Amino acid sequence: MIIGVPAEIKDGETRVAMTPSLSRRCVKLGATVLVQKGAGFRAGFLDTEYRHAGAKIVNTAAKAWGEANLVVKVKEPQPSEFRFFRSDLTLFTYLHLAACPDLAAALVEKQVLGIAYESVEGREGLLPLLKPMSHIAGRLSIQTGAYFLQTQNGGSGVLLGGVPGTMPGRVAIIGAGNSGAHACRMAMGMGARVAMLDLDARKLEMIDEEYRGGVVTLMANPGNIEMAVKDCDLLIGAVLVPNAKAPTVVTSAMVKQMRPGSVIVDIAIDQGGCVATIAPTSHREPTYVKHGVVHYAVPNMPALVGRTSTSALTQATEPYLVNMVTRGINRALTEHEGLARGINTRAGRVVNRQVARALGYR
Ligand SMILES: NC(=O)c1ccc[n+]([C@@H]2O[C@H](COP(=O)([O-])OP(=O)(O)OC[C@H]3O[C@@H](n4cnc5c(N)ncnc54)[C@H](O)[C@@H]3O)[C@@H](O)[C@H]2O)c1
Repeated sequence: MIIGVPAEIKDGETRVAMTPSLSRRCVKLGATVLVQKGAGFRAGFLDTEYRHAGAKIVNTAAKAWGEANLVVKVKEPQPSEFRFFRSDLTLFTYLHLAACPDLAAALVEKQVLGIAYESVEGREGLLPLLKPMSHIAGRLSIQTGAYFLQTQNGGSGVLLGGVPGTMPGRVAIIGAGNSGAHACRMAMGMGARVAMLDLDARKLEMIDEEYRGGVVTLMANPGNIEMAVKDCDLLIGAVLVPNAKAPTVVTSAMVKQMRPGSVIVDIAIDQGGCVATIAPTSHREPTYVKHGVVHYAVPNMPALVGRTSTSALTQATEPYLVNMVTRGINRALTEHEGLARGINTRAGRVVNRQVARALGYR
């Protein structure tokens, strides 16, 4: 098997899909690993380290894509990469197709076998390849939000932890899953007053137990969402309906009721976002102001901490890659139901039911 590792080209991306140590393991198992020159640089991994691990450094993206039968990436391919698609290619990466119709169309047209990290299932339906990046994005959402709450960054001038004798900042987190729970941990660590909302009562019970009632938990019905949004300085959107476009749980009218300079960080933007007024932003221009509220919606937040994110991501993908290298892609997919559930496109069709529904494919 020949595995290609192209450099990531999405705006501000710093992660890489393979560390030198994972390359070494794949090479030892018999794979050829082609790493595009400089692909690991922004995550702190040098070409020489990949060479020592037995990987080959190739000069261009065309080589990393063109000479491999399995391409591993981090972010969804960008339009300039669509030209590398071909019918004998397997692509293993985040795809987020519900929010990327053009990418879905290109994968279908070129009959690529597209396995999406975010759709791979573990035991009890958990999403083991989404989870580590959600943890990171959740933690980052609070430090990013705290930064944009600062007056010089366009915010209302609220310090999340406050100081004795002042009110602490108020944080509302909608979605108490992987990213929401880690946002909660950071916000509590900073001393903010936190409200968590979710439709799943068990998640709220877990939060209530963990913080012994120190976090306000609310069922995510429209009335509670409106109250929490109006009351907060920092709103975190962290909902997910797997593979589907994120539901809009915060309306424009709710955003208009927020205090000027309040901040929204919509982590769910990679699935379209869960706030009516949200649109994707980039690391280059991470925010815009609407109705007086600072909106932050970067779809690849973990790139802010490329080293940590690369370690967390590749530790999660390693068993799946090792399985594909050892058994071959077809056998690995046949024998591992959870990995097979990651398939989003195959032989010119969208084969994931929710993705197909979100995009209007049969
Ligand atoms: N922006 C980024 O850089 C980045 C990074 C990682 C993950 N993400 C995204 O963050 C989102 C959340 O991921 P996660 O791993 O935390 O998901 P998760 O499945 O662990 O949690 C999502 C939570 O949302 C809740 N939910 C679903 N519909 C809801 C609704 N209508 N109202 C309230 N709650 C609702 C679910 O019950 C669940 O608890 C996903 O879209 C994921 O792709 C973004």
